[in-house]
Order: sequence, then C-alpha cells, then structure tokens
Amino acid sequence: MSEVILKNLTKKYGTNTVVDNINLKAENGKLVSILGPSGCGKTTTLRMIAGFEKPDSGEIFFDGRTVGTLPINKRNIGMVFQSYALFPHMTVEQNVSYGLEQRKVAPEQIKIWVNEALSLVHMEEYAKRKPKQLSGGQQQRVALARALVINPDVLLLDECLSALDKKLRVEMQVELRKILENTGVTTFFVTHDQEEAMTLSDIIVVMNNGKIEQCGTPFDIYERPATRFTAGFLGKANFFEGKVISSENNLVTINTKTGNITIPALNAKIDENILYIVRPEKIRFVSEGGIKGKIEHVTYSGNISLCSVNCGSQTIICEIQNTISGERAKKGDNVFIDWDCSESVKILGGD
Ligand SMILES: Nc1ncnc2c1ncn2[C@@H]1O[C@H](COP(=O)(O)OP(=O)(O)OP(=O)(O)O)[C@@H](O)[C@H]1O
Ligand SMILES: [Mg+2]
Repeated sequence: MSEVILKNLTKKYGTNTVVDNINLKAENGKLVSILGPSGCGKTTTLRMIAGFEKPDSGEIFFDGRTVGTLPINKRNIGMVFQSYALFPHMTVEQNVSYGLEQRKVAPEQIKIWVNEALSLVHMEEYAKRKPKQLSGGQQQRVALARALVINPDVLLLDECLSALDKKLRVEMQVELRKILENTGVTTFFVTHDQEEAMTLSDIIVVMNNGKIEQCGTPFDIYERPATRFTAGFLGKANFFEGKVISSENNLVTINTKTGNITIPALNAKIDENILYIVRPEKIRFVSEGGIKGKIEHVTYSGNISLCSVNCGSQTIICEIQNTISGERAKKGDNVFIDWDCSESVKILGGD
C-alpha cells in the first residue's frame, strides 16, 4: 500500500556495477514484474528495496519518504526470496505466525490471521508439519503465507512460484492476483516465466546488465518493444535491419547485411539506419504479392505451426494458425508472406 520510487539506484560489488543507475516507479497497489537474464541485477534490486543491501548511490522512497536509514524491520515488507528459507525447527504454523509475534499481535488474532494466510495458499492441512516434511512447492507456499500474513505495504517476490508444477502455478497466479487486488499491496515480482509476467503484471520492467531496457505495460513491452533486447527477450521476433533504400506505398526496402528485402512498414526515410521488428504471429500467407519464399522447416504445435521461410536475403519466422480443413504448410512449399505495415515496429539506428 505504498508507492515505491527508485531514483538513480546503483549497486557495485567491487568494480562490478550490478545495478546501474535505475529509475523506477511502482504505483500504489500495482504489480511490477522484473524480467531479465540471470545475473542482470533483479535480486540485488529487491534486496536494496528490502534493506538487505545498501545502495552505493541513489535513493528509495516509500510514499514520498526516503527509506535510506530505515532498518529492514521498519519497512513493513513481505518477502519471498529465491532461497525461501523457512525456519527448519518450526512448524508451518509457527513459521507463519513468527512475524506477527515479533509485532506483538494478540495470540487470538494471530491464530485467525495465520489460518487465513494458510488457507489462501491451500496449506491449512499442513499447519503442524516441519518444512523438511514438505515438498519444494509446499514450502514455497508457506513462504508466501509468511510474507502475506503481516499485511505488508510492499511485497517482494523473487521467483516465488518457480517450484510449483504448471497446474498449481497457474492456480497460484490467479490466487496471487486476487490476494493482491484484495490487499492492495504494491508488489515487485521477479520471474523467468514470460507468460507469468504477461498475465500477472500491471507493469513489466525488462533489465539487462544492471540497466532498465524498457518499462511498460505487458502490451507495450510485447507490441512496442523499444530495443532489440526487449523484443528478443520476450517472445519471438523477426529483425529487419539496415539502411533504407526506398520507401513508398507502405513498402520499405532495406539494405541488410545479407541483401535487400522489401517489407510492409511505415515511416521510413531514405538513407536512415533502422531496425524493424515483426512478431511471427502478425505474418500471414497470401496467394500472391508480398514476400516470396520457400518453407524450410515447420514445427507443428497444435494450435499453430511455426514456419521458417527462406526469403533469399533472410529467413522469416511465421506463426500460422492451424485449422482442421485448411491445407497444412509443409517443407518445400513456395509461399508469399505478408503482414500489415502497422505491425512493423520501428527502432531508429538499430537499437
Ligand atoms: N554478494 C555479492 N558479491 C559479489 N557479487 C554479487 C553478490 N551478489 C550478487 N552478485 C553479482 O551481482 C550480479 C547480479 O546478481 P543478482 O543476484 O541480482 O542477479 P539476478 O538478476 O537475480 O539473477 P538470477 O536470475 O540468476 O537470480 C551477478 O553477476 C552476481 O554474480
Ligand atoms: Mg535472482
């Protein structure tokens, strides 16, 4: 229930800058996902918000107040970290009640809240067990209950669903979304699962090498990637890069490293260096016109088929919706491919 602002936040380990001058605002009650490759600084960012790490420079504000000097236990933060260590000698119930006891909550109240928290994560039946008597996924759920029970202002979740099987994971995603809507807690969520980030987030932050590449709604990040990295990191993408040699009737010819290609696109200027990004599902096969190519490879995956089409100067990946009656794309087919010019996302100068 706090607005969180990170301002010019930087963290170094020795000479290694692992979080590099990041600026970020999480509005009150929103879920902000942090995505990025291993080692890009996600956990370090969360640890600074929690107060486990001191930034080398920059500041963190909760509701406009700097938390620079505020110790961990005064920040009212709920956390589930990558290593979600539960207290091994305590039962599930005791693990969850611990934070409330520390806060000197009345025992009758503790009982009620602990039961509520355990039922949220479907772990009521396991209240008397010790962590070592639980599976990894069950331990993760207890860790989540332990973080939620204190009614935090800010919730930090680092890969908190990673040990769950797919079905439970999806269930927990729905539960989590409900919990967050009910409690209105501002949440930072680190995940490696793109689909999870897309479905859960109000805002996605894409990090790379300690820096923020892009910050936006799931729609913005997917449909309007601002950099090559973001486009490549989330979902599949075709890249058309080089110098514009002609542009007319919404067709742009680009001189790429491997030859010329003419694609449907808008807003190109002659001689500029550009990168266009086109998602495979925007592409369709047409009976004539468009870009001529030959299918080199088809991967059938039920609802769609992914086709690699050799178009001379480059291979284009197309995602084609499958039907029962329609003709199936197959290796060796000669095809024409096309897409709406407005589906080409332009990035000036290549990056
Ligand atoms: N205590 C430390 N001392 C030195 N270097 C560290 C320390 N903690 C983290 N690092 C380094 O900082 C970088 C960022 O680490 P961080 O844990 O934030 O990555 P991450 O994005 O969470 O990665 P992952 O997805 O693998 O969890 C890494 O290169 C890591 O090796
Ligand atoms: Mg991490």
